Amino acid sequence: MAKIKGFSKLNKTEKIAWLAKHFLTSNPLDIAREFSSYMHANAELQKVFDGISENTLTNFYLPYGVAPNFVINGRTYVVPMVIEESSVVAAASAGAKFWSERGGFHAEVISTVKVGHVHFLWRGDSEKLLQFFDTELKEELIASVQPLVENMKARGGGLKTLELIDCSHLEPEYFQLKATFETADAMGANFINSVLEHFAGSLTEEVKENKKFTGAEKEVDVVMSILSNYTPECLVKAWVECDINALGSFEEANLNAQQFARKFNTAINIAKHDVYRATTHNKGIFNGIDAVILATGNDFRAIEACGHAYASRNGQYASLSNCEIKGNKFIFSLQIPLAVGTVGGLTKLHPLSKRSLEILGNPSAKELMKIVACVGLAQNFSAIKALVTSGIQKGHMKMHLTNILRHFGASENEIQLAATYFVDKTVSFSSVRAYLNDVRGENFSTEKL
Ligand code: MEV
Repeated sequence: MAKIKGFSKLNKTEKIAWLAKHFLTSNPLDIAREFSSYMHANAELQKVFDGISENTLTNFYLPYGVAPNFVINGRTYVVPMVIEESSVVAAASAGAKFWSERGGFHAEVISTVKVGHVHFLWRGDSEKLLQFFDTELKEELIASVQPLVENMKARGGGLKTLELIDCSHLEPEYFQLKATFETADAMGANFINSVLEHFAGSLTEEVKENKKFTGAEKEVDVVMSILSNYTPECLVKAWVECDINALGSFEEANLNAQQFARKFNTAINIAKHDVYRATTHNKGIFNGIDAVILATGNDFRAIEACGHAYASRNGQYASLSNCEIKGNKFIFSLQIPLAVGTVGGLTKLHPLSKRSLEILGNPSAKELMKIVACVGLAQNFSAIKALVTSGIQKGHMKMHLTNILRHFGASENEIQLAATYFVDKTVSFSSVRAYLNDVRGENFSTEKL
């Protein structure tokens, strides 16, 4: 396969032409037309999209939808969601509606602390370094980042704590400078990383210049300075609760409210014990969380990495959500770290992230944490409710039906007729193909599409 030097220097047309020539079989002109058909008509906006990443050839579309009726702490939200999986927005909306009729969602932010480290190697008596840190270095380091921290302080954030930790029992000569931060409404990655890199420089200088240290002790070997995406102290809790009888009955599964609550609770317990189930269970939670994170221009990789690490905090990967049956009360909750921002990064740069935040009433980062957690909880509730009653495939395949019909080039009329036909039938590629072949007759079978 062809390799290339300087690909990034080519313009978009040249990049597409090179790609088409070496890696695609269709006519290069058709490929260029296809890529160009997904570009934005407004050239200025297209420049914004191009600038978000590198080697951009076109835009990749994902559906942008909304889930209405999210009542959170008494306020009603419409939540924007970007997701490629059918039934996620429908499930979130169904969960939101269900709980809007039972007191809504409740949410509270427990803490908003972020963390970062300078990981470094140092050879010498660790007591000597720790004492130097306590008596002189710590103050010097904090003073050295004041110009960087000022702006964040004015916005209500800043550096919170700074510690030196001897980690030489983990790795020879390994130490950490561990810093904690408040970053107000920003996710704060750039701020934290700038402060950490500054700490690294000052630490190296201060140790080198100080007369206490001689020979190898003067050398601080900085390995890396980076924020941690594990933010167990940037934590939010969301929950729903109602009398068990208020859950209603689930005729399709022949379950009354009490039986449903017990079965639901067992399903959550299974996700606490079994890692196979826990992974799918938490994936369902992230179906909702990621969709809002994407729609609001936040970093879904950071959110996912942190959430899964948090799910393992007790030594075994387990359910992020929890269910309690206390007397006659059904309580379902989700506690999860969510380091999100509503300023900076992509939040205002991407026109649709900006619009999403407006739809949500321009929330603070704390408010967004609550909204996101509630969507995760709603998503999880709908998934478990479906799993323990009708099963997941019924709803999934209904949504999937339209996709399969479109795959076979069905008209809007055919899609409507098929929706009625498949109400009580199993949806699969072959059953939809057979149905279409049947209604279209021999002259126009799906085989010809
Ligand atoms: C599918 O995307 C998500 C579910 O599998 C989640 C779950 O099983 O809890 C339905």
